[in-house]
Amino acid sequence: MTSDALKREAAARALDFVRPGMRLGLGTGSTARHFVELLGERVRGGLNVIGVPTSEATEADARRVGVPLTTLDETPRLDLTVDGADEIGPGLALIKGGGGALLREKIVASASAEMIVIADDSKVVQSLGAFALPIEVVTFGLAATELAIADALERLSLPVRLKLRMRPDGHAFVTDSGHRIIDAAIGRIADPQNLADALAAIPGVVEHGLFLGLAGKAIVAGSAGIRVIER
Ligand code: A5P
Repeated sequence: MTSDALKREAAARALDFVRPGMRLGLGTGSTARHFVELLGERVRGGLNVIGVPTSEATEADARRVGVPLTTLDETPRLDLTVDGADEIGPGLALIKGGGGALLREKIVASASAEMIVIADDSKVVQSLGAFALPIEVVTFGLAATELAIADALERLSLPVRLKLRMRPDGHAFVTDSGHRIIDAAIGRIADPQNLADALAAIPGVVEHGLFLGLAGKAIVAGSAGIRVIER
């Protein structure tokens, strides 16, 4: 089975946790897109739910498949967020933001009573950090913020390998909220909470892709079947 087919299987299983009337956070990325499409099929079959998209791309997908949408301003508390991840580590600590939507993803997940991660089994790791950690930064003072991130990593004895994310056309990648992304190739992150705290203390850092204590379940699809991992 292809990794895309596994992603769709995980997404399909997540529908089991959706109840009529739920207010849903809709994640971003190729796995979350499967969930939105499958949810759209249910909505067309009569399921009554409402969703808050975590990116403009997801908003467009949800509109295309007919999932009714709201905003966090209109609906500030959600029942369930279903989203993908770049890495799923011990205790369901996650790295997210490969698609650049980490800020809205974290706001939406934090506003939800429950977060379910959906993924193919290539995303499950023994320790986080092989995937470069996305760090969303404001454009003002970008060079100073990058230096502050480097200093913080050095203080934690972590390697400093920072790269401003670029688009394929050579321009800097800009997030839906108008920020930039610095990808930090750290390698094994022994203490994710410590790193999260250090990054959160830097003024120009808007958010980082460590999602700690947010996901309650992961639905992981592999060639041998689907596993549901609880935190
Ligand atoms: C988007 O910013 C990310 O957090 C995605 O959820 C993550 O990159 C997983 O994407 P895929 O489902 O495409 O692997």
